[in-house]
Amino acid sequence: MTALDLSGPVAVVGTGTMGQGIAQVALVAGHPVRLYDAAPGFAKTAAAAITARLDRLVEKGRIEATARDAATGRLSAVEDLADLAGCDLVVEAVLEQLDVKQRLFQDLEEVVAESCLLATNTSSLSVTAVAGALKHPERFVGLHFFNPAPLLPLVEVVSGHATDEAAATRAYETAKAWGKTPVRCADTPGFIVNRIARPFYAEALRLHEERAADPATTDAVLRECGGFKMGPFELTDLIGQDVNEAVTRSVWESFFQDPKFTPSLAQRRLVESRRLGRKSGQGWYAYGDGAEKAEPHTAAPASPPESVALHGELFQAAALVPLIEAAGVRVEAGHSGHPDFPGSIELPDGTRLRLADGTSADAAAEPTIQFDLALDYAKATRIALCPAARVSEQALAEAVGLFQALGKEVSVVRAPGLIVARTVALLVDFAHDAVARGVADAEDIDTAMRLGVNYPRGPLSWGAALGAYWVAEFLDNLHAEYPTGRYAPSQALRQAAAREEHS
Ligand SMILES: NC(=O)c1ccc[n+]([C@@H]2O[C@H](COP(=O)([O-])OP(=O)(O)OC[C@H]3O[C@@H](n4cnc5c(N)ncnc54)[C@H](O)[C@@H]3O)[C@@H](O)[C@H]2O)c1
Repeated sequence: MTALDLSGPVAVVGTGTMGQGIAQVALVAGHPVRLYDAAPGFAKTAAAAITARLDRLVEKGRIEATARDAATGRLSAVEDLADLAGCDLVVEAVLEQLDVKQRLFQDLEEVVAESCLLATNTSSLSVTAVAGALKHPERFVGLHFFNPAPLLPLVEVVSGHATDEAAATRAYETAKAWGKTPVRCADTPGFIVNRIARPFYAEALRLHEERAADPATTDAVLRECGGFKMGPFELTDLIGQDVNEAVTRSVWESFFQDPKFTPSLAQRRLVESRRLGRKSGQGWYAYGDGAEKAEPHTAAPASPPESVALHGELFQAAALVPLIEAAGVRVEAGHSGHPDFPGSIELPDGTRLRLADGTSADAAAEPTIQFDLALDYAKATRIALCPAARVSEQALAEAVGLFQALGKEVSVVRAPGLIVARTVALLVDFAHDAVARGVADAEDIDTAMRLGVNYPRGPLSWGAALGAYWVAEFLDNLHAEYPTGRYAPSQALRQAAAREEHS
């Protein structure tokens, strides 16, 4: 099954933000494109906006003037749904309301040929439900573009229960021919990206609600230690708190209020008070002239110890050892440790530094300071530490000095599982669960999370590097700290851990 022929007309119904973007993509790829919107005059305005955008691309030297002229020659605005007869594909991007979309597709079915591919750009409705009233739901797919559609490469190609394999493949190949990176997924709440990304926001909100870490610190740690392009607070201020919360609530409700997806009271209050983020001038942060910039917690300069003792193996944090040595701190050999248990770095007074494992630092036998997981310990410019209550001020200052000697800013927080480790462990778990439930295959999930939300590493590849056993144990420990069900590892992750243990 191949992509649609470029000579085949593509209709875009609903010519707002997404419709215009999708139309531009199909147009530049070479199709004739017809625009239709229920609001009189909107399609014409949209055609003018798309033309203006192509003009700007010519000015910037991104496309040739001749290509622009050919594209605008293929673009038309129609005022009657009946004018969409003869189209090979209709992409719908109207109001996010089930009855509106269902009615539209019923009307469209009266107009287009039986061979016409029908697609919805819905981000939160069930593709199966949108196609529910159709005579021929087998040619119906979800084509979920991301905003702005001309710039973002990812397209989730969603198969509803009745979708024909051939229709999904044709949609997939067409998106690819348009220069996009499509991924295949099943019709489940949030599809791939909006389902698996939930803990990225939710954990940050929980850390804030528990007063474990403030927004600026969480954002800085996820950026500078976790390698994420933006932290969840600044990102949701950009997206709009109302938009982000609506997705969270929709996914949670679709999963019958599964505690793994519970929304946040703190975000609810923000939305209720219309602190929506950048667009309203205030969200988690203040914007506009004279707005004060919130700074992350950053520990004052301190001196490192002259030496530390290394007990056992640090496994996921092993890269720290050569960095400590290179910083001129002597690393003495401590106990060899149990080969299966993560080791620790001992400060001169006996305090242990350990990678976060989901337990509370207070639960350890020795005075313990937990440190966070980094995407890359050599490149990280910040690290979060969580000291147990009994850790002395001097030991904490030495731990701070040690990481500062490695060129890192240090943020001290009070969070079991710390920040990056906790977030990544849940992303890995959600991704394993999604694969096991047939939402998508592992490669498509990693691609979707890298391209759809810019993650520095796909969650399954990250999870493989950390080890499923480590992630499952981390979440078991966190579940013991917070027995709400939210952190209980999925069956899929437990099984992956068991396979790993016996391999
Ligand atoms: N905005 C995003 O970031 C984004 C991203 C991915 C998917 N989506 C989805 O895309 C769809 C459109 O979102 P948007 O942000 O472009 O909305 P929008 O409000 O910018 O545009 C919607 C357009 O649809 C028109 N419309 C409404 N009912 C119609 C009907 N029955 N027939 C024809 N036209 C009709 C409206 O007049 C309007 O021009 C929604 O389903 C949304 O969930 C949005």
